[in-house]
Amino acid sequence: METVNPWDAIAQLYHDFEGESGDALRQFVVDPCLQELLGDYQGLALLDAGCGNGYWSRRLALTAKQVVAMDASATLIGIAAAQVNPGHIRFVQADLSLSLPFADSSFDRILSSLVLQYLPSLDSCLREFARVLKPDGTAVLAWQHPFYEAYFHRPGEASSTGPFVATASYFDRVAIQQKIMRGQATETIYHRTLADYLTSFGAAGFQLQELREPSYPDALLQQMPGYQQVNHIPRLLAVRLVKRQIP
Ligand SMILES: C[S@@+](CC[C@H](N)C(=O)[O-])C[C@H]1O[C@@H](n2cnc3c(N)ncnc32)[C@H](O)[C@@H]1O
Repeated sequence: METVNPWDAIAQLYHDFEGESGDALRQFVVDPCLQELLGDYQGLALLDAGCGNGYWSRRLALTAKQVVAMDASATLIGIAAAQVNPGHIRFVQADLSLSLPFADSSFDRILSSLVLQYLPSLDSCLREFARVLKPDGTAVLAWQHPFYEAYFHRPGEASSTGPFVATASYFDRVAIQQKIMRGQATETIYHRTLADYLTSFGAAGFQLQELREPSYPDALLQQMPGYQQVNHIPRLLAVRLVKRQIP
């Protein structure tokens, strides 16, 4: 069954907003952390899972041997493919909730930035990540911190810079409607607890190598004092997982 991706409707707006380097959250918090967790990927085959407008794919393609840029949104894949391609990038429209159209052991690394929270089923996606990774392959994932989501259970009561009020239980696994792009669009987040994520990683056959909670650096906070309050609670999680060898 074909699934409808709400990102199609806001794809151009999203691309105009994020551009080639992403917003402040990406530039100062997410991307430096992902870069460190990825390490050296020269000559490797990478999957950018949920690539959006593809700016990470283009960055990876500068040194990787091969990059597959994959997203459920046909419009975003079209936008990604229309940009200047600096290397070997293949563009694929596919849904991370379903079986992935890649052979077993296709990739050395999977990168997925700010996508996991949109997936109604995490387990099936992680099993597919494990299947398409080579033995000892790594998955580097960043997504919205579940603690942060607990402050957004009642839309309209908190903005991305605060004030933050815990209006519902962190332990309620609910779908949360959240405004994005300065209120111009709404997205659905599937809230899970931290333990839910860690349990899913293990069940899919991954070993957790590193977990980080990146926050806004002091240099940015001095420039943008409005972000001081958002820095009081964890905004993001990032992990490096390694595919366990089955004896
Ligand atoms: C916040 S954007 C992040 C895009 C990109 N990784 C970045 O950092 O700019 C979330 C992306 O996840 C994609 N997405 C959401 N659900 C998906 C699914 N089930 N399968 C594949 N992609 C999905 C959306 O189309 C969108 O491009």
